[in-house]
Amino acid sequence: MKKIIFYGAGNISQALIEGLISAGYDKKYIYFVDRNKSNTKKLTKIGVKKINHDSIQATDLVFLAVKPKDALFAFDEIIKIHEKIKIISLVAGIKSNKFLARSKTIELIRAMPNTSSRFNKGITAIYNKSSSKTTFKKVSDILKKVGILIEVEKEAYIDDFTGLIGSGPAYFFYLLKVYEKRITKLCNGDTKKSNEIITNLLEGIALSISNNNNLDDLISAVASKKGTTEAGLKSFKTTKLSQSFEKGIIRAIKRAKEISKEY
Ligand SMILES: NC(=O)c1ccc[n+]([C@@H]2O[C@H](COP(=O)([O-])OP(=O)(O)OC[C@H]3O[C@@H](n4cnc5c(N)ncnc54)[C@H](OP(=O)(O)O)[C@@H]3O)[C@@H](O)[C@H]2O)c1
Repeated sequence: MKKIIFYGAGNISQALIEGLISAGYDKKYIYFVDRNKSNTKKLTKIGVKKINHDSIQATDLVFLAVKPKDALFAFDEIIKIHEKIKIISLVAGIKSNKFLARSKTIELIRAMPNTSSRFNKGITAIYNKSSSKTTFKKVSDILKKVGILIEVEKEAYIDDFTGLIGSGPAYFFYLLKVYEKRITKLCNGDTKKSNEIITNLLEGIALSISNNNNLDDLISAVASKKGTTEAGLKSFKTTKLSQSFEKGIIRAIKRAKEISKEY
């Protein structure tokens, strides 16, 4: 197994680390660098070791997972140690050329995962900027352990994946808040029960999609003429829910492109 370092051990690193461990990746090969006490505590509790950035070796695979505002500083800390280091940037928005302008000798990959990696149901887009075939294969094999891996041919597509997939889970959590509120009320405030209901609802939806991927057929199978579903759907159409949802996604993709210009 390859030694991997998560530089920045917050939300996305924790999701990837937990997914990797449950997929059988031996935690003795996983390390992290982080300054945040609460994130450090969470990972040390599950037996993942913290190291100082100067203990990183040239052969390690370094996943850069800090917020965009911290990315260039963290990147500089890494390249100070090894000029030929292998870096996989998970950072939204910041383009490869921004990093390569600071060091042309590194092997650089960009990857955009999502937090469902924690349950090995992740979706990760990957783009190879300057890594060797061997490094790219090693990184791809690691990321495949936590879900689906999609290699994109153009770096710009990483922004689309950021807006659609990286941010994706949050859109659904946001929409589900409406459900949660109503269902919890029906369950007399029993949040455990409402959680169970929402989980079953979503698992059923996922299975329906994998069984028949035509979404219109699936809608027709639920909606009947003059029925409740049709009334609900009509209201969504009148209030332009689809357009509003799409606008949000477009805005997120645009934001990914803007970030690049800010740092
Ligand atoms: N969250 C997601 O679903 C998701 C999905 C795909 C991609 N991403 C990308 O992944 C990156 C990380 O996102 P996140 O949500 O995981 O962020 P996060 O929860 O804030 O985690 C980042 C961690 O890195 C630490 N850190 C920052 N600079 C550091 C430095 N120089 N040395 C040591 N530790 C440092 C932070 O400490 P402090 O708290 O002290 O700052 C924090 O613990 C972002 O660029 C984001 O675009 C996130």
